[in-house]
Amino acid sequence: MNCHISKQPLTTRPETTITTIPGDKSLSHRAVILGSLAKGTSSFSGFLTAEDCLNTLKVFNALGIQSEPSGTNLTIHGKGLSGLRAPLNDAILDVGNSGTGIRLITGVLAAQAFDTAITGDASIQKRPMKRIITPLSLMGAQITGQSLAGKTDIYPVLTIKGGQLNATTYTLPVASAQVKSAILLASLFSKDVTTVIEPEATRDHTERMLQGYGADIRREGTAIMCSGRKPLIAPTGRTIQIPADISSAAFFIVLGLITPHAGLHLTHIGINPTRDALLHVLKAMGAKIDIHSIAGEDFEPHATISVYPSEMTNIDLDPAVIPFLIDEIPILAVAAMFAKGTLRVTGAKELRVKESDRIAGIARIAAAVGITIDETEDGFSLTGRPSGASFTLDSHGDHRIAMSGIVLAYAAEMSATVKDCACIQTSFPNFFEILEGLGFLHQLG
Ligand code: S3P
Repeated sequence: MNCHISKQPLTTRPETTITTIPGDKSLSHRAVILGSLAKGTSSFSGFLTAEDCLNTLKVFNALGIQSEPSGTNLTIHGKGLSGLRAPLNDAILDVGNSGTGIRLITGVLAAQAFDTAITGDASIQKRPMKRIITPLSLMGAQITGQSLAGKTDIYPVLTIKGGQLNATTYTLPVASAQVKSAILLASLFSKDVTTVIEPEATRDHTERMLQGYGADIRREGTAIMCSGRKPLIAPTGRTIQIPADISSAAFFIVLGLITPHAGLHLTHIGINPTRDALLHVLKAMGAKIDIHSIAGEDFEPHATISVYPSEMTNIDLDPAVIPFLIDEIPILAVAAMFAKGTLRVTGAKELRVKESDRIAGIARIAAAVGITIDETEDGFSLTGRPSGASFTLDSHGDHRIAMSGIVLAYAAEMSATVKDCACIQTSFPNFFEILEGLGFLHQLG
């Protein structure tokens, strides 16, 4: 499915409040996983009903977990740490497009008393899995995968021989919350204390949610310690609120900075300090962003984010903040196309192994609108303003590249065809609805 945009002159829009940015994807995956592994019933609001998280839910349903989704509310009847059962007819579990899904769930499957196989779509089958297989194997897991011609990693389909795991101490060689979380989830099933050392901090949703479920988990400096074989207990009598996803809000935050309007207010947006670097970086570039009405600090903080059209100047991005805005770099690159000077990104090699090679994706976006970009193995530098009347962009099935291209078309007042947009359903089912509400028109087909 392609998205066709015809040239729309930008007129100043009235002050608008958007209350429908969907729930956080990272938290929604973890809600399903921890809700399933806990004793008792968990209730969540703000669950992301997009393909990625629905696939995680389907996987746990196939493992014997009952759930009641109702709009964005989700009830999960957890069965405790030893409550999962083998999928019927040895069905291969399917995570669709979700790297978070496959990596976190594999941590759980490695410790089961049954064997499983897990895979996903064409993109997942090209994503590296050694990063979880190595630490999980140190814990005693038995996982095999596929090789790909000309590549050195291990790829799905993963075949997992379930068994008893041992605690370990592991230093993350890449800054990855998915790897950290796979180990922490596996550690729940093993005797003794597992320690994960993360030299560079990454998003901490797993730790926060595990704490909420009564796990014995604590942090000392860069080390996270988690004791195994302690039951997780669903917080009964309470609905756990999943805030809106800052990674989805990012598209409208940037749109709000680079198009004329009287103020755009996005409510209930997650501002976990391990996820909010985009806001700080944009502010450092001169963006007018106001973060207010902060709440939810006992679990995952959220706030209203107000943005206003801004004159911005590009910066050299500090590599230390990369893990805290890794998914927002494509739309940050679009913001940079409307700012003075050069945006320099280094230390972002991980972008090469996301849903697609996102450095290449950003280079395609820049090239489509005549912008000079120097691509390096771990980043890029980008200078200049969009030029031309129209462009065509192939998203290569990557939702964040597709949405970045669409925001660019409106802000640059260009007509555009963004190819392969069905992928937007993996994270942001009402993306087009919100755009329409703001008066930005398009045709899908
Ligand atoms: C995620 C972690 C990040 C991020 C992904 C979601 C998570 O990946 O890019 O979209 O939910 O843990 P890495 O941990 O591999 O960097």
